[in-house]
Amino acid sequence: MKILFVCLGNICRSPLAEGIARDYIAKNNLDIIVDSAGTSSYHIGENPCPNSVEIAKQRGIDISSLKARQVKAKDFSEFDMIIGLDHSNIANLKIMGCKKPFLLGDFGLEGEDIPDPYFFGGFEGFEKVFEMIKTGVINIINSR
Ligand code: 4NP
Repeated sequence: MKILFVCLGNICRSPLAEGIARDYIAKNNLDIIVDSAGTSSYHIGENPCPNSVEIAKQRGIDISSLKARQVKAKDFSEFDMIIGLDHSNIANLKIMGCKKPFLLGDFGLEGEDIPDPYFFGGFEGFEKVFEMIKTGVINIINSR
């Protein structure tokens, strides 16, 4: 089983999803491979944004060495599930050729978008999205 988490920049939200998933998979000895990527090329090669690194660290998860990459066509055949963090990610994934992207918010979050904390809410925004992402990620893994 291979799961790819996708947001716009791959520096705030999807690295959190990847880190939370890696942590949960390791703790539960699951046979699942996870990765994350962005639909844009804006931040290729960058580490996650400082607030995402910090909120993860506070929750015992180290995402500091992840590196942003862009979604590529090969991902659509390689991964069993491609998960967008919001509806614009889903729209962009479809434009890029992904046939059946899933919305993270459809896994226990009533279809809600994970808002982009890069653009709102200071550090509290990251605390809020961490909890939302954690709920969705654990529900996805447990739905397999
Ligand atoms: P992300 O947040 O999609 O959660 O990684 C973003 C961060 C920065 C930008 C876009 C999204 N940006 O355009 O700079």
